[in-house]
Amino acid sequence: MAFKELVFSGVQPTGNLHLGNYLGAIVKFVELQNSHDCIYCVVDMHAITQAHDPKQLVANIREVTAAFIACGIDPKKHIVFNQSQVAEHAELAWVFNCVARIGWLNRMTQFKEKAGKDRENASIGLYDYPVLMAADILVYRATHVPVGEDQKQHLELARDIAQKFNNDFAESITAHGFGDGFFPLPEPLIQGPATRVMSLRDGTKKMSKSDASDYSRINLSDDADAIAQKVRKAKTDPEPLPSELPGLDKRPEAANLVGIYAALSGATKEKVLSDFGGGQFSQFKASLVDLAVAKLGPIGAEMKKLSADHAYIDAVLRDGSDRARAIAAPNMKAVKEIVGFLN
Ligand code: TYM
Repeated sequence: MAFKELVFSGVQPTGNLHLGNYLGAIVKFVELQNSHDCIYCVVDMHAITQAHDPKQLVANIREVTAAFIACGIDPKKHIVFNQSQVAEHAELAWVFNCVARIGWLNRMTQFKEKAGKDRENASIGLYDYPVLMAADILVYRATHVPVGEDQKQHLELARDIAQKFNNDFAESITAHGFGDGFFPLPEPLIQGPATRVMSLRDGTKKMSKSDASDYSRINLSDDADAIAQKVRKAKTDPEPLPSELPGLDKRPEAANLVGIYAALSGATKEKVLSDFGGGQFSQFKASLVDLAVAKLGPIGAEMKKLSADHAYIDAVLRDGSDRARAIAAPNMKAVKEIVGFLN
């Protein structure tokens, strides 16, 4: 069955939105608006899978929404909303809980990392998180999902769930007039020079919202001084920059900064190296500071302004939720019929 192309992606409102979220995901969200219908979700139900402060969560939901808009997402042409306002996400997740296998979830590396040593004490929500993520995408029957590299395994699980649902209920799907498959197998879009932005303090660790050191990441809310300080203090090695890509092998910090420069400037890593190769890191870092401040400074300022305008942000989310629900509700009704619920 051919599905209409539709883009869906989500960002957790867990604070400290950073350069990795921006380059790995949000920049792609913005680009895809020109070619596709897009749905961008502030996934607040994912944000309660670990301990959280309710007051902070509300502020974070508004901040991620403000960041989407400040980065260039148009909430009128596309859909921007928060997950908990569309109950169909949770409803479909339950059906998917009965499709997904425990063995599949046991392989999820992000759960292992997040749960740490005390796995017995992790919430069931944290364990089940990838099933809700599959429901987020498939409740809209979305076909394309722009994400950073760290979400690849979750996307593979979403495809497995869609495939198993289509197989398990094949007869019923056909009988209800949905051809040979109800759900598309959503395609991950993991592209560009910064699909995995690393910590500025350790080039082998992912840049992350939860790193204890604020110097490990550039936050989208950082002002010019903070950005400059963090880039200047970023870990490097004593060698000058190479002129060609293979020269970045086994130099994770250098590779990371070159990737960031390439992504922010829209150039390839090869071009960045041909411009800066042979030079000292201090020179390269000074150019990176200028570039990062020019690109991120205005976003941070706009984000702060918009986050403070609660009436505007809340209205955007309410309107987006209404439009999202209008797509999700008939899909959920069809799922109920397919699995044999009376409705
Ligand atoms: P989250 O909130 O952790 O991250 C949001 C997006 O940012 C990307 N990202 C990165 N990209 C490059 N380098 C990094 N260091 C980096 N850190 C984060 C993530 O890959 C992601 O694209 N499970 C998701 C949210 C989610 C979702 C969905 C995504 C829930 N439902 C449905 C897509 C479709 C998450 O925790 O992202």
